[in-house]
Amino acid sequence: MLSLIVDRAVDRQRNVDLSSFNTLGLSSRARDLLVYDDVTQLPALQALVEQGERIFVLGGGSNVVLAEQVDALVVKVESKGIRLVAQQDDAYIVEAQAGECWHDFVQHCLNQGWPGLENLALIPGTVGAAPVQNIGAYGLELEQRIHSVLAWSFTEGQEVELSAAQCGFAYRDSRFKRDPAGNWLILAVRFALPRQWTPVLEYPDLNKQAYLAGEPDPQTIFQAVCDIRRQKLPDPRVLGNAGSFFKNPVVQAEQRDALKQQWPNLVSYEVGQGQCKLAAGWLIDQCGWKGRRDGAVGVHDRQALVLVNHGGGTAHDIARLAQAIRASVRERFGVELEQEPVVVT
Ligand code: EPU
Repeated sequence: MLSLIVDRAVDRQRNVDLSSFNTLGLSSRARDLLVYDDVTQLPALQALVEQGERIFVLGGGSNVVLAEQVDALVVKVESKGIRLVAQQDDAYIVEAQAGECWHDFVQHCLNQGWPGLENLALIPGTVGAAPVQNIGAYGLELEQRIHSVLAWSFTEGQEVELSAAQCGFAYRDSRFKRDPAGNWLILAVRFALPRQWTPVLEYPDLNKQAYLAGEPDPQTIFQAVCDIRRQKLPDPRVLGNAGSFFKNPVVQAEQRDALKQQWPNLVSYEVGQGQCKLAAGWLIDQCGWKGRRDGAVGVHDRQALVLVNHGGGTAHDIARLAQAIRASVRERFGVELEQEPVVVT
């Protein structure tokens, strides 16, 4: 029995083309690749890590910049399954395996009568990747709906359940992103979806939508979010991209006020404690980047925060473009941009 498990877990493919496993569509090859879909593979995977194997866990590949050669055992997560774990007084606790497609999961929850994730519709990627960067959109951050994360800890060699507080969530950040790659394999995520559902409609784009007036139901919000995203963001199946390439920078209110004196149209939001978030897309747009192209890569023509691969681009091309964008925003506004996707070598 044990040898069977070991064989399955080390059933790796060599020199694998990753270009269709990353939404930027970058040319990339993995030294080795292993498909993970069942917990019985974990002991053998743990043994490999203890022998010094370097692993990188890949979900939908929608928040990564893959080097041309990834010198690691790439563990591609494809585990499936969704179940209602409990019905508490205030919430449905729903568990989804890490390899489930995020958007399909959001839709499934709505169909089951478990609303609460509709603002996060159409975000590419998997359920297991969602907590890593604490996905967020249209006024909702994932952490507001997380009950706990079930993960394999390679440092402890066992499965652990981390409460939302233990996940160390921040804006597009978590302990899973901060800890060294290869420390964690997220197995499943448990969501607390409110039984007393109320719509989240504060985001400017959403409250501008006429058909959301009155008391919209979750399905209507889901549709509105899908429509807005389709208008602004390129479909990765058509044009390679990794969503927002930079985080919206957080600055002191005084710096924002000074910038606003010079740039009255500057877009910013208060985030508390005397701090403000600036719209990075607006800053990049003002520097004239929207729609510009540099060889195989470029800046999207409807959202300057999104870098795109027109075909044949590599991590080097993306890095060069990102560096040039950061330099021009720094020079013009004195603001430092931080990259959102993780670089994998
Ligand atoms: N803007 C411009 N020019 C541009 C892009 C944006 O002037 O080229 C302005 C817009 O007019 C708007 C403001 O900047 O006034 C903000 O733009 P938008 O509402 O499109 O949102 P964002 O701040 O660019 C963030 C998230 C997105 C998320 C949207 C909606 C980050 C880094 N990005 O984008 O998340 O979908 O809000 O909530 O926080 C992602 O993380 O991959 C992502 C797509």
